[in-house]
Amino acid sequence: MKLTAKSIHPLPNHVAIVPDGNGRWARKRGLPRVYGHREGIVNMLRMIQYINEHPIKYVTFYGFSTENWNRPEPEVKGLFALVEEFVDKHLEEIKQKNIKIRHIGRLDNLPSNLQNAIKKAVALTANNNGMTLNIAWNYGGRAEIVDAVTSYVKDKNKPQQLDEKTFANYLYTAGIPDVDLLIRTGNETRLSNFLIWQTAYSEYYFTEVLWPDFGKKDIDKALLEYSKRNRRFGGL
Ligand code: IPE
Ligand code: MG
Repeated sequence: MKLTAKSIHPLPNHVAIVPDGNGRWARKRGLPRVYGHREGIVNMLRMIQYINEHPIKYVTFYGFSTENWNRPEPEVKGLFALVEEFVDKHLEEIKQKNIKIRHIGRLDNLPSNLQNAIKKAVALTANNNGMTLNIAWNYGGRAEIVDAVTSYVKDKNKPQQLDEKTFANYLYTAGIPDVDLLIRTGNETRLSNFLIWQTAYSEYYFTEVLWPDFGKKDIDKALLEYSKRNRRFGGL
């Protein structure tokens, strides 16, 4: 039987993806790293479409971390330009598919063109009620926790009122359920400050496949493995 995610049970409700390996994909072909990022975006769109054909309600992509500012300026600028291009070219299509885009991360220190592109993507899809696509851009898990504490305190909350559920509502991901399955491509087995609160009980799946090469059969493999995991959440 041909492997297809449609026959896999249970599927995760929330999949988070660290699409790693774009730079290496390009270098292997003797191309500048930014070509890898371009191909990475093409693949992200393919994956969004594929995941959207399944009853998976939330997908979160790690696009740019608070630590990625340490990369050479041309690469950072190249990545920012690709996002604006993505919004220009593909927002309408995403909107038509009833996908709701959310941004998680800090907007304020991004260039204003990029801020506007992100705001536009969020605003234009705000009333969609199909799959939610979270884009982590200028995102850091520790920054998110610090920002949550800051707004909790600003709201004049009392410490004794704080519990995990209340706290989660101050995170960028307020209202979005915890991650069920975290996939990282590109042969690195670390979390890199991604969704550190939301992945406390996630299932992790790592693969050597570089992100631009990660196709339908690769995600099917990850989903199949997920369906076989025994999740106990600390119970028996
Ligand atoms: C991941 O690919 C994409 C982003 C972090 C934006 P990398 O750029 O990390 O590619 P490698 O790991 O150097 O191959
Ligand atoms: Mg990398």
